[in-house]
Amino acid sequence: MAAGRPGAALLLQLLLQAGAVSRAAAPRVPPEACGQRPLLDSILGSRIVGGQNAPIGAWPWSVSLQVHQTGKQFAHICGGVLVNENSVLTAAHCVTGRKDPHSWRAVLGMHNLWEHGKHIEKRNIASITVHPEFKKETFENDLALFELHPAVRYSDYIQPICLPPAQLHPPLDNHTECLISGWGRTAEKGKISAVLKEAQVEIIPTRVCNSSAAYGGLVTPNMICAGSWSGGIDTCQGDSGGPLACYHPSTNRYYLLGIASFGFGCARPKFPGIYVRLSPYRRWIESELLLSKAAAGPRSVTLTIPLTVLCAVLAQAF
Ligand code: ARG
Repeated sequence: MAAGRPGAALLLQLLLQAGAVSRAAAPRVPPEACGQRPLLDSILGSRIVGGQNAPIGAWPWSVSLQVHQTGKQFAHICGGVLVNENSVLTAAHCVTGRKDPHSWRAVLGMHNLWEHGKHIEKRNIASITVHPEFKKETFENDLALFELHPAVRYSDYIQPICLPPAQLHPPLDNHTECLISGWGRTAEKGKISAVLKEAQVEIIPTRVCNSSAAYGGLVTPNMICAGSWSGGIDTCQGDSGGPLACYHPSTNRYYLLGIASFGFGCARPKFPGIYVRLSPYRRWIESELLLSKAAAGPRSVTLTIPLTVLCAVLAQAF
């Protein structure tokens, strides 16, 4: 009988529900290509203080932020992380006393600081935005955004990292592989490294890092403690602003979990590196990225004018 059969609408609803269930279970892939390494399709065995030289193209979002020195060349100051075509995230303390964007440049796609190969791109800095709540006494909110001019074109050597969404599916767990990378000092009193180095780090619980024998409460919930509790693996001077990047196997992408911020010495036992935890800053980062996109994109004029007109029309209507 017709009444006994499920109606078309019900059937459709059931199908949709089934679809929704399977969609929710599948790993969500970010809309824009990010966090991928075209030159290293899988994590190689080969995988700073205690690390190794990174393979070419291993960290295509790693940026060297450099300052022009009077009478001299540019000097590498800090690391940075490419998050879209014209934005590099870094640490706010990198720009303390050097807020003029014109004194800086960004070098992308680079492996060796002293041998600029043909895959590198140099960019001027159009603007620097420091987190309004950055506190240089406590390193709270140690985040800044550099706007590149002009924007870069992605290549095998230049790629953006993924920013962590509110929730990753499946979430990152204890087995997550997280790595640091940079051109910073290879020992506490050493020199910066010519070649980009990388090291795998452990995420250390804040409670452990804040113990009285360690940071004794300096690590806030907006920071991540990572490295090695027994010492030997760490970021160091010159690595600040660089990525703490974690691999998410089900999407085969790297996500930016942290930005190198500070540490007591380098690679000392009980004093791992402290990274800005990015998740609490998602909203700030996203709104700043939107602003810089609007300022840089050729669409800005075609978009802002109709929007302004629309706003004016709506304002009159109500
Ligand atoms: N603050 C330093 C810089 O400006 C290094 C940060 C990391 N230090 C550490 N021991 N993990 O480059």
